[in-house]
Amino acid sequence: MFPVLALAIFCGLLAQNTQGYASPQAIVNLGPEMLQRLISHRLDSQALVGRLQNLPLQSILQGGSGGLLGLGNLPVLGGLVDGLLGNILGVKIRNIELLRLDIRLDEVAKHIIVTVPADVEIEINLPLSLGRLLHVKLYLDIQVAVRILTDPVSGHVKLVVGNCHNNPGHLRITLLNNKGPLLQTVNNLLRAVTDILEKTVPHLLQKELCPLVNMLLEDVLNLLQGSSSSYVHGDMIQLRPSSTSLRNGVMQIGYEGTVRLPGGQNYIVPSGTAPLPHAPLGDAPMNMLLSDHLLSAMLRAFLTPRAINIHSPQEITAFSRQMAALSGFKGAIRALQVSYGAPVLAMTVGRIEVKQNIDVKVYSGRHLFTVRATVTSLGAVSVAGGSLRLTLHLEGIDNLSLINSSVGNFDVQHLTGAISHLVSGFLLPHQNHLLAEGFPLPLVQQLGIDHLNAAPGQNALLLFAPPLAS
Ligand SMILES: *[C@@H]1O[C@H](CO)[C@@H](O)[C@H](O)[C@H]1NC(C)=O
Ligand SMILES: *[C@@H]1O[C@H](CO)[C@@H](O)[C@H](O)[C@H]1NC(C)=O
Repeated sequence: MFPVLALAIFCGLLAQNTQGYASPQAIVNLGPEMLQRLISHRLDSQALVGRLQNLPLQSILQGGSGGLLGLGNLPVLGGLVDGLLGNILGVKIRNIELLRLDIRLDEVAKHIIVTVPADVEIEINLPLSLGRLLHVKLYLDIQVAVRILTDPVSGHVKLVVGNCHNNPGHLRITLLNNKGPLLQTVNNLLRAVTDILEKTVPHLLQKELCPLVNMLLEDVLNLLQGSSSSYVHGDMIQLRPSSTSLRNGVMQIGYEGTVRLPGGQNYIVPSGTAPLPHAPLGDAPMNMLLSDHLLSAMLRAFLTPRAINIHSPQEITAFSRQMAALSGFKGAIRALQVSYGAPVLAMTVGRIEVKQNIDVKVYSGRHLFTVRATVTSLGAVSVAGGSLRLTLHLEGIDNLSLINSSVGNFDVQHLTGAISHLVSGFLLPHQNHLLAEGFPLPLVQQLGIDHLNAAPGQNALLLFAPPLAS
């Protein structure tokens, strides 16, 4: 809508900081708990269990040492046991329970290790002469490492799913109904069965589980490496991940902000006034930092300079009353126009301040006069539905000056009340309406977080999620 203006604004921003775009304009810090939740929520354990329950366990066991689905090197079993295995009436997976995922960040090796522990209960149905049902419980860990790779040329960071394997040190087999003395033959059989299970089932489960876990992780990584973008009056503002690192047990994703104008050119939002600080998570499962320049770019995209005509009789009447109180002013006021320039945002601890210059033009039939003023408002930040929303509240009006007048000179200070009224009753509600659309933040919605708390700091805004309900 206002490409030329927008261009001027962003070029202006660009000029403020010509050295180094290296430091990101936004940082997302994710704790292991958040990653765990992100993956778990996508894990369709029903589908997984369904798939595993159909594993051909029976044919594996009954095939004895010979028919192990190409698994090769299995222990040579005695002929007796082989015969007994042939007598097994049924083998099935009774229950599979996927336990709580474990996420470990290996900062030195730049790995994220995802462990999917599973409890598998197997039921073996023996002929009557040998006893009854045997319940065997298998506990195994499927492990996948995600590597953080940096492209040596572009410097861009990619997350890559590595090998998926079953952690052999973590396999445990328990006989659930091993009560009382057993016949020697049954004992032999049990040993043979557990032996075979131990050597085959984890491998089989791994073969089934790994592609699913890999797919899931690819999905999660795509999400973590996703950009967030928003069209604001024809300009696209995009936050694109530019760095990923593991630091102090936290995964950190840095974002670069770009603005694509309708003409197709890209402008990189320059780094903030100061590099974004380190923000420890504390109790929060995730937090996010936004630079003052990024927030400023967002605000300017929403509030591109414009002029608004006011025809509302209430506003005009209220303004006229104030004018009438000025000594010597006569004549009816019929129309008002307020125009505003690019807002300037500044952040200090606990405070977001926005200043903008406005011109108020006052008309009867003709132009009467123009007053210029600086409006200072305080910004309140809220995050809902994954979007950041800034709301402006009037703090004060300064620097009133009469720019031109066809009704002679008068002391514009007397208009402070009238203009404050106009700003708080008309201009700011209008701007807050434009800002209400909000700017979608990266990852927040995807992480299933409804609400973030906001804490303005020196030149950076900190947003943090409340502790997760377990
Ligand atoms: C008023 O104008 C002066 C001079 O242009 C400027 O230094 C000052 O910051 C302005 N005050 C406000 C509140 O913007
Ligand atoms: C008065 O000043 C404003 C702001 O500079 C300008 O837009 C407008 O054209 C001027 N009007 C007259 C009648 O000079």
